[in-house]
Amino acid sequence: MTSNNGKLPIHKHIPHASRIVYGGMHLGGGWNKNPISKDDEIQAQDLLETALANGINTLDLADIYTFGKAEEVIGRVFKKAPHLIDKLIIQSKLGIKLTHDAKVKQYDLSASWAEKGLDAILKRLRIEKLDVLFLHRPDPLMEIESLATTLNKNYEHDKFEYLALSNMHAGQMAYIQSNVSMPVIANQLEMSLLASDFVEDAITVNMDINSQVGFPRGTIEYCLPQGIQLQAWASLAQGIFDPNHTNTEVTREIIDTRLLVGELAENYNTSPSAIVLAWLMRHPAMIQPVIGTTTPKRLVEAAEAGKILLSRDDWYHLLETRRGREVP
Ligand SMILES: NC(=O)c1ccc[n+]([C@@H]2O[C@H](COP(=O)([O-])OP(=O)(O)OC[C@H]3O[C@@H](n4cnc5c(N)ncnc54)[C@H](OP(=O)(O)O)[C@@H]3O)[C@@H](O)[C@H]2O)c1
Repeated sequence: MTSNNGKLPIHKHIPHASRIVYGGMHLGGGWNKNPISKDDEIQAQDLLETALANGINTLDLADIYTFGKAEEVIGRVFKKAPHLIDKLIIQSKLGIKLTHDAKVKQYDLSASWAEKGLDAILKRLRIEKLDVLFLHRPDPLMEIESLATTLNKNYEHDKFEYLALSNMHAGQMAYIQSNVSMPVIANQLEMSLLASDFVEDAITVNMDINSQVGFPRGTIEYCLPQGIQLQAWASLAQGIFDPNHTNTEVTREIIDTRLLVGELAENYNTSPSAIVLAWLMRHPAMIQPVIGTTTPKRLVEAAEAGKILLSRDDWYHLLETRRGREVP
């Protein structure tokens, strides 16, 4: 499963990358101070093996996930099952400092934090080299020359294969790209049927409501011609569109969209998760959804999205139901 519409490969720089990315943000026992348990290790290995068995070979992490435990638990799995390392494209991120590392939460793309952060990622994961190093968020205090020197040095020392960015607009991407020696290969942003501003940006040009759009204007059009891969975080929208979701305190539009997602899941003979992802994947930018489920069954269901091509009518029907009104 690499594509939903026959255009191969999806990723210019990593042609064998899967269409869907598995996100490990909740692994390692959750966002608490509890130590990693044996069960957490078993869960992480199970999820990695389920992902691989379902054609998902890209793993997304960050140094902060579950306060470092997500990377640590994966590192323990790699120690036990080293054959998994070469089967996976491993990406991780640095650049956010939580309050256990600093007085207040902050972003840190200083050279020293990047240097230390990358070494810590490699140590937790028990690997020599990271496939893709992401800069997690823009740091307004970033000093590009020293950061670029550090990135270039670590790249030359073979500590990472590719550089990527997250939550950045085209100008920020261009600025970083013009200072580093290696190509920037991806940008990871929030995009989903819920976080659908990437579509609103396109369809409300020249309208007042466009000023409310949160998605950085022109990012997709900047990335595509350069072969910069778009990845979508929170692509399942935390399951909010699943007709069986237990949260009932939601807006009319969400309830209507749930009903439609359920209907389409039946029509396409698939799961609600697959429909939610198929909506994102129908976009010609060949966006890679990053999914963060810890439920193997949901992972298998979500992976079905790669086999589904939503009709143009169904795609717009979902968009308009989600918006609560027709397109302008
Ligand atoms: N670059 C960034 O700034 C950034 C930010 C956030 C996330 N990320 C990446 O994106 C990945 C995905 O993000 P995410 O985990 O926030 O979002 P997600 O994939 O949209 O949702 C996963 C979460 O929603 C729950 N969920 C999914 N489907 C469900 C359903 N049908 N019913 C009930 N619950 C459901 C999952 O619970 P279960 O575990 O029970 O299935 C899990 O807690 C992360 O793992 C991380 O790798 C990146």
